[in-house]
Amino acid sequence: MFDHSKLEKNSILMTVCILIVVSIGGLVEIAPLFFLESTIEKVKGMRPYTPLELTGRNIYIREGCYNCHSQMIRPFRDELERYGHYSLAAESMYDHPFQWGSKRTGPDLARVGGKYSDDWHTTHLIDPRSLVPESVMPGYPFLANTPLSYADIAGHLKANQAVGVPYSAEMVTNAMADLEAQIDPDSDNVDAMIERYPGAKARNFDGAPGAATEMDALIAYLQVLGTMVDFSVYNAEENLR
Ligand code: HEC
Repeated sequence: MFDHSKLEKNSILMTVCILIVVSIGGLVEIAPLFFLESTIEKVKGMRPYTPLELTGRNIYIREGCYNCHSQMIRPFRDELERYGHYSLAAESMYDHPFQWGSKRTGPDLARVGGKYSDDWHTTHLIDPRSLVPESVMPGYPFLANTPLSYADIAGHLKANQAVGVPYSAEMVTNAMADLEAQIDPDSDNVDAMIERYPGAKARNFDGAPGAATEMDALIAYLQVLGTMVDFSVYNAEENLR
């Protein structure tokens, strides 16, 4: 018989044994993830952010929007009824860092894309209380007249490439042109941009003529959130399994 009293009276030995037992539990949970073919199920429609959406995302992070907004719809009935289909792992696979969050002073934004017009967003971001009188969201009026700084956009794409986002060499080379094409629907480069980023929308997002502003970029980002996956197709395929 194993003499338990030895173990119980020797704290070092006890600690070592606890560590061994606990690490077996950890390994059993974690190791299979490295051998599964895909931990994140691939879903049709997911593409990397366009350069404009990516700069908008950087502004979202810079302004700390995540302090009040989550981007993850949980699979509970109240959430589904309010926000739509629960978030899939694949929907944030190109997010570095992800914006799931848990603080909801304001509503979840995972599917806010297409919910409002660009015009609504511009007015709301400049002065939230002009549209929602009881809102506690701060206004960001300076976004509308701050020129977008994007000289380093190719570098941002490369940084994302380094952590696994499948930006091609062509996307990196054309980053600047694609960004400019997306806020100028009359540009000759729009078709090439959409070919690289299927489903991307080219519009003058802030409604003001002239060069790109931070408002253009942030709205382009908000409008794409949760819109890449076509759930009528996704649900039909799920049912076939
Ligand atoms: C202090 C907390 C706070 C911060 C910071 C904040 N928001 Fe909000 N936001 C709210 C609240 C509360 C609401 C709900 C009332 C309203 O619509 O204004 C809201 C609503 C919204 C909505 C409408 C969502 C919907 O489905 O109706 C959007 C879009 C939004 N915020 C975007 C942003 C962006 C982008 C930023 C960063 C630039 C930001 N918010 C920063 C609190 C915040």
